[in-house]
Amino acid sequence: MKLFDVYTLYDVTPVKAKGCYVYDEKGTEYLDLYGGHAVMSIGHGHPHYVKRLTEQLSNIGFYSNAVQNPLQQQVADKLGRLSGCEGYELFFVSSGAEANENALKLASFATQKHKVVAFKNGFHGRTSATVAATDNLSIVSPLNAQHEVAILELGDVSALEETLKNGDCCAVILEFIQGVGGLDESTAVFYKNVECLCKRYVVKLIADEVQSGFGRSGDFFAFQKYGIEPDIITMAKGMGNGFPVGGILVHPSIKAKHGMLGTTFGGNHLACAATLAVLEVLEKEHLMAHAREMESRFRELCSELVAESAKKLNLKVKGRGLMLGLDLGFDVSELRKKLIYEHYIFTGGAKNKNVLRILPPLNIKEEHFDVLFQALKKEL
Ligand SMILES: Cc1ncc(COP(=O)(O)O)c(C=O)c1O
Repeated sequence: MKLFDVYTLYDVTPVKAKGCYVYDEKGTEYLDLYGGHAVMSIGHGHPHYVKRLTEQLSNIGFYSNAVQNPLQQQVADKLGRLSGCEGYELFFVSSGAEANENALKLASFATQKHKVVAFKNGFHGRTSATVAATDNLSIVSPLNAQHEVAILELGDVSALEETLKNGDCCAVILEFIQGVGGLDESTAVFYKNVECLCKRYVVKLIADEVQSGFGRSGDFFAFQKYGIEPDIITMAKGMGNGFPVGGILVHPSIKAKHGMLGTTFGGNHLACAATLAVLEVLEKEHLMAHAREMESRFRELCSELVAESAKKLNLKVKGRGLMLGLDLGFDVSELRKKLIYEHYIFTGGAKNKNVLRILPPLNIKEEHFDVLFQALKKEL
């Protein structure tokens, strides 16, 4: 049987991984500054993660949501404490799109309205309503396009108010740091206005923290920099460090009802063990503070690169913590290939072709960035 051919692949076959490195079948070592697309939060094969998952599997790996699973409450308690979102309620899913799809559905249940507001260059997933709310028509099928979505300019308060005024919107969904789009962020004033307008027009504010959550931005969630209180927060990627787990945090003003949401795999025993391991390592290794320190180091290295270069480099650092982008002012696709095939470094790309994305495990060390900057010195 052939594989359904939807991915453009790099010619690399990882067979092993440890910490910030992956290894191919010939034993070639690659520095992982991509984290498998912001997924590897505590690094490949972290001993605590391996131990927790192995022990869990030898006891019970899965049972459905029809029985008690005390691990779910353990995750909720630990996540509430570490994120500072104790007042919210947790619903488990298994991916980022599923988190956003459920968040949108819940917003619609709660408001009894149907239209969604999203923003230019946003990415929220590939399921029915999430892809309709994603600013990329090439991945929206006619079936998805039946959802009513307004995609507005990020930062345009008047357009937002005009749209919400109509009274048919259930949700505003936004990434406080855009991931796939290319690390753009609006202003504190805009975000406060979004919160305020959502309250005024009885619309649920959904913070898509699928990529920026779980410590990646240096805060537990990226929206926390702005002192905002979203109605729903969505999470996935770094939550399971590679195990497929996601979740939504629901403000207590939205009331649960038996049967309104559900899933077979969400919150299973292995998913809970993976999430607990991630939370335990985030706390024990102070990875949020570390992400902030590493961002400072990254910015210093960028300044040094510009100062030492014979050419006039036009660099701009975007993002926060270890959700970073380097805008080089030209299409970085060829550079990314060179980094992989000649320097053995994985980096990420973005919808904005000029942005090199850096999304490493949160316990990356300074010497790993030194390797990247040696390579950039040679190539730029
Ligand atoms: C911000 C954001 N939301 C949602 C998603 C969709 O997540 P998943 O691929 O797990 O469905 C992504 C994936 O890149 C993302 O970056």
